[in-house]
Amino acid sequence: MIYLDNAATSHPKPECVYRTMDRFLREMSANPGRSSHRRATEVVRVIDRARMNLTDLFGGDSPDRMIFTLNATDALNLAIKGCLAEGDHVVTTTLEHNSVLRPLHGLERSGKIRVTRVESSPEGYVDPRKVLRELRPDTRMVVMVHASNVLGTVQDLEAIGPAVRGNGSLFLVDAAQSAGIQPIDVKLACIDLLAFTGHKALMGPMGVGGLYVSRRVDPLPWREGGTGGESAPPEQPEEMPTRLEAGTPNSAGIAALAAAVEFLRKEGIDGIREREVGLRNRLVERLAGNRRIRVHAAGSQPVLGTVSLTIGGYEPAEVGAILDQAFGIAVRTGLHCAPDVHRLLGTFPSGTIRLSPGYFTTESEIDTACGALEEIAGMETGKQRNSLTG
Ligand code: ALA
Repeated sequence: MIYLDNAATSHPKPECVYRTMDRFLREMSANPGRSSHRRATEVVRVIDRARMNLTDLFGGDSPDRMIFTLNATDALNLAIKGCLAEGDHVVTTTLEHNSVLRPLHGLERSGKIRVTRVESSPEGYVDPRKVLRELRPDTRMVVMVHASNVLGTVQDLEAIGPAVRGNGSLFLVDAAQSAGIQPIDVKLACIDLLAFTGHKALMGPMGVGGLYVSRRVDPLPWREGGTGGESAPPEQPEEMPTRLEAGTPNSAGIAALAAAVEFLRKEGIDGIREREVGLRNRLVERLAGNRRIRVHAAGSQPVLGTVSLTIGGYEPAEVGAILDQAFGIAVRTGLHCAPDVHRLLGTFPSGTIRLSPGYFTTESEIDTACGALEEIAGMETGKQRNSLTG
């Protein structure tokens, strides 16, 4: 299979990720912080290493503020529900994923908060000035995605964060698509809460993500329970990171994520990004000449590897099925859990065909995918299409 669905989850993973998971489950499984035997303390060390690696990667100053979560959605829910209170105003954008849209919508519908949604340009960029214009004295938080999961467009966080801080508001960034491939410096961009997942550009396994929490904020725990130490009090302990990490962690996943981050740093994330963007540009340039294929927001910069397109006369889901069944090419079609982006593009409700190369994608795989898309676009009749899927 030609795998062009790295925006959903990266594949393959670096060898060290497979090896670490295997070794961890065979030789190291023990519950960190719960028991004091050698194996359990070794697992604590592994988790501390992961906290350190990620804190360094994002320019944070305290590994204790690096909270492990299940994924980016979990981290965003912790940040949104743990920080917002009755009467708060929130500014967000129309580029967001449902992991931001839905928690905000729920709080807004219950009358707890008010939300202002800043529209992005048709090219997939949010003008920082438009965000800053919406700041008010009661604005508690600005929540925005760093890189669109539909278009790959990257937002200018450093042009927004300092003014958000100047207004006394919190800056929450959804780095689900960008963490691991786009440099992020929480200090430079004045980010108070950085939510990310481990299984996309960070190249780790599924089931582990994180939230970096600056010292300016203390979110309420999103879940409460056992933390290993301090078992006597009825309340959740105050101490970070355990305050926000009740329950047995995904230690194997965290260990593998630590290995993945070491891999990324060794390869260099700038080189990884250049490779992915190079593959994206190869695809966009070749398809630009086809009058039936429309690449959305194609000319824009800065951008990551993700490309969204539509083919005249086809439903995106139909193209996805043909690519899968007739060509062995994996893509994601539809709304990509980001309906407002498709409203902006005019592709709602069918969505687009999203191709997302990764670091291990080859040029020849991109050429094969382009050839398949051109062939599909060239099909005139339903009969011809059916012949592809049998
Ligand atoms: N949020 C992921 C995507 O964009 C799963 O496909």
